[in-house]
Amino acid sequence: MNKPDKRQGAAMDYAARWWDITNYLGLGRRLRVKTIALAGIGEGDRVLDVGCGTGTLALLEKQTVGPRGYVAGIDLAPKMIARALAKARHAGAEVDFRMASIASLPFPDRSFTVVSSSLMVHHLPTEIKQQGFAEVWRVLRPAGRFLIFDISPAGNFLDAWLRFFLSLPFPSRTEAEYTRDNMAGRIPILLQEAGFEEVHYLEWQRFLGGKIPLAFLVARKPE
Ligand SMILES: C[S@@+](CC[C@H](N)C(=O)[O-])C[C@H]1O[C@@H](n2cnc3c(N)ncnc32)[C@H](O)[C@@H]1O
Repeated sequence: MNKPDKRQGAAMDYAARWWDITNYLGLGRRLRVKTIALAGIGEGDRVLDVGCGTGTLALLEKQTVGPRGYVAGIDLAPKMIARALAKARHAGAEVDFRMASIASLPFPDRSFTVVSSSLMVHHLPTEIKQQGFAEVWRVLRPAGRFLIFDISPAGNFLDAWLRFFLSLPFPSRTEAEYTRDNMAGRIPILLQEAGFEEVHYLEWQRFLGGKIPLAFLVARKPE
């Protein structure tokens, strides 16, 4: 298996063994079902999940699109992809999991109706976000949707706390540095620069009734 190129983002091989535990810590089925609903994924769709991790969302997307649909998942971390492939085999599901970076997607132009991304964008250096969004634009069909669930400013005191945390002197080229784009509200701007239209936040995650800095963002490729 190839070694991931660290310049492409934070390949999370180190987390592959325990990542599925996060299914019980807030990244469970309810959140995945909501992601699929907000992305508007339906029967027969062609869906790509970028930064798919161990494949939990992609496997649920496959159940949603059914046998007429097609789902692929890519991740920079080979150990994440190995786990996703094992889960697909175990479930008898046909999902096309591959090791790849969002900055160089191994699919032809206009292959997908929807691209999803869950908690991956904040792992990317700014230039990889730019290249990655251009790649997502390329592989989407006209009017295709890009649904992102990621760290986003919530407009409350939690933002100030998170910004303070991110301003601490972390080593450069780490997730902390990359997450500053998210908290500065630059993700919608980068999406528009890549050619997307109708870029807007759909809703924020809540905890104890209050918004937390995690939101769903949608962008559309023009017709
Ligand atoms: C926090 S995990 C989220 C995994 C999964 N989407 C989920 O919600 O469970 C972020 C994933 O993005 C992957 N990643 C980081 N940089 C990437 C890149 N340039 N291209 C593709 N995947 C990348 C990491 O290896 C990791 O598996």
